[in-house]
Amino acid sequence: MEWNHEKEELEKMYHEKLKKYVVECFLKQQGAKNTKALLAIHPEEYPVSLQLFGSDPDIVSEMAKGIEELPFQILDINMGCPVPKVVKNGEGSALMKNPKLVYQIVSKTVKAIRKPVTVKIRKGFDDMHVNAAEIAKIVEEAGGAAVAVHGRTREQYYSGKADWEVIRQVKEAVSIPVIGNGDVVSGETALAMMKQTGCDGVMIGRAAQGNPWIFRELAEYGKTGVHPEMPAKEMRKNAMLRHARLQIEFKGKYLGIREMRKHVAWYTKGMEGSAKLREAINRVESYDELEELLNERL
Ligand SMILES: Cc1cc2nc3c(=O)[nH]c(=O)nc-3n(C[C@H](O)[C@H](O)[C@H](O)COP(=O)(O)O)c2cc1C
Repeated sequence: MEWNHEKEELEKMYHEKLKKYVVECFLKQQGAKNTKALLAIHPEEYPVSLQLFGSDPDIVSEMAKGIEELPFQILDINMGCPVPKVVKNGEGSALMKNPKLVYQIVSKTVKAIRKPVTVKIRKGFDDMHVNAAEIAKIVEEAGGAAVAVHGRTREQYYSGKADWEVIRQVKEAVSIPVIGNGDVVSGETALAMMKQTGCDGVMIGRAAQGNPWIFRELAEYGKTGVHPEMPAKEMRKNAMLRHARLQIEFKGKYLGIREMRKHVAWYTKGMEGSAKLREAINRVESYDELEELLNERL
């Protein structure tokens, strides 16, 4: 009996130490190059919501406390990521299966920092477990400031149509702001989502890839009901080149230009000659080569 008790105490101590170690490593890493780049915030980016992953309430709240002084305005907790590695760890969308833990993570983090804490969730884990409204209520009870809902289950990943009805149910269930997410690709779809669900804001995912103008489109369409014209080819080309220069400045020549390849593929989707350009883009190794290719093909 005594031995069992001692064993439990030792295990508890070990876990506490391990948690402390994990948090210290994360915070130390903040000084490391990669994480620092991930946490880099440009003064013109405002307001910024910074997102954390995690399933241990102590670790998530300690991390939040450790980074609170960085210049971001909102702390978001990811409960929507479908990636197997993340789900296996009980993090991301796996948390949708554990309402009690959701409460603990959110309430502990809310108490640990002064900045508002929001949560990104999904429709549910799979079709048999659709519980976005239940989880949103728990987030609210735990002190969460807002909730963003992606209308797909974890099993769907990013495929199929997003279920806006579930976003409407979440909106009905809570009084904190609800941000709808899934398949918003234009001013029209944004307004349609807001009308159908009553959500307070929309979140854009893939439609922003290679299309930074979508935010202007939404704002203008919302005000006037008229679609602004897509920028002309020359303007899109200039945007790609500017993006490439900034990417190289930020990530260095080697990584910067390689990361730019996927962005160019997104920017040029649907443009004349884009299929051929996409074939060639993966061979581009420098800014000059990119400029030459765009001038030649577009
Ligand atoms: C490549 C990729 C990376 C993503 N990374 C994140 C992430 O780090 N955090 C997050 O909350 N959502 C992430 N998402 C999900 C999007 O925020 C969004 O929920 C999803 O794409 C559905 O919206 P959409 O139909 O407008 O694309 C990611 C999506 C994609 C395609």
